[in-house]
Amino acid sequence: MEDQSVTVTESQVLNALRTIKDPDLHRDIVTLGFVQDVKICAGQVAFKIVLTTPACPVRDKMRDEARNVVQALPGVTSVDVQMDAKVGTTMGIPEKLAIPGIRNILVVGSGKGGVGKSTVTANLAISLARLGAKVGLMDGDIYGPNIPLMMGITEQPMIHHERVLPVVKHDIKVISMGFFNRGDTPVIWRGPMLHSAIQQFLKQVEWGELDYLLVDLPPGTGDVQLTLVQSVPLTGAVVVSTPQDVALQDARKAIMMFKQMKVEVLGIVENMSYFSCPHCHQRTDIFSHGGARKASEKFSVPFLGEIPLDLAIREGGDTGQPITVLQPDSDLAKIFSGVAEQLAAQISISNFKQAPVPMTV
Ligand SMILES: Nc1ncnc2c1ncn2[C@@H]1O[C@H](COP(=O)(O)OP(=O)(O)O)[C@@H](O)[C@H]1O
Ligand SMILES: [Mg+2]
Repeated sequence: MEDQSVTVTESQVLNALRTIKDPDLHRDIVTLGFVQDVKICAGQVAFKIVLTTPACPVRDKMRDEARNVVQALPGVTSVDVQMDAKVGTTMGIPEKLAIPGIRNILVVGSGKGGVGKSTVTANLAISLARLGAKVGLMDGDIYGPNIPLMMGITEQPMIHHERVLPVVKHDIKVISMGFFNRGDTPVIWRGPMLHSAIQQFLKQVEWGELDYLLVDLPPGTGDVQLTLVQSVPLTGAVVVSTPQDVALQDARKAIMMFKQMKVEVLGIVENMSYFSCPHCHQRTDIFSHGGARKASEKFSVPFLGEIPLDLAIREGGDTGQPITVLQPDSDLAKIFSGVAEQLAAQISISNFKQAPVPMTV
């Protein structure tokens, strides 16, 4: 029997919760300001844990630990833990954001084309949205936009008072040059036009509130990257690479370019990492394996995960039904979710460096 005469206090609850640390930010959840709205009524304790991303891999573990440590306090009869998330921003505080409402702008790049950058970007965007984040996807490939096809978008965006309303698909707000150049008409824009297209995508699109805006970059080390870097502060870059030596040389170039432009590289993804035979399930390392992980160690950037070469991923891209939408519970979708969680964690870490919580303890 619990001793009903013992009453628990808020400071006891907070002290118990101080034993729980965020594994990425290496501080306890009370100091980080995650614990909010503590309510105590006799032995009933309720509080909220507000994380820095809904795509938090340790979310359930943290909730269970929090419940257990509070439940163990004398006088506590029940514990109600609500989990919530508020994504941090590139500039530390929302008021300083270059585009009001967009908390983080992330670019996805690679040195060379055909490594699956657009495929990875689209599936990561969908994974982040499925995990509960507000996500936008901007097709930065002005001359060869692939995103409309990959996302299965045939509608055109509405224009209202000279503002463009992005097309919403799979819970993601999408903008692409492909929306404005139907059919096979080649885009004949050059230099300054490219600059203004990117500017318009950033400033004339009604993005609303976004936790993450992912920008699918064209291959190479070119103008779009430069325009973006000069126009808005970026939270960081993701580099996609295949494990082959040639692709890695290009990934290395992409990493160096971002570093030169003072854009933080949040991580590398190895795509087409291995082939898992759908018949015998034997794994084959078609383009060798593990090269991107090695490169990440060499350049001291985080490794975000490996995505296999799989027919379903290719078909998903070609039919406008990405695997993360078509088979959300498949192993492949889980792999993309895992990479999305790793990326979200790196974004949280990067934002935390910009604006660490006031050390109240
Ligand atoms: N992991 C994968 N498994 C199978 N096919 C893939 C994978 N990643 C990409 N692809 C396919 O490879 C081709 C190139 O991918 P894409 O995303 O357009 O590359 P990029 O944007 O780097 O040029 C597409 O046909 C796509 O469906
Ligand atoms: Mg592409």
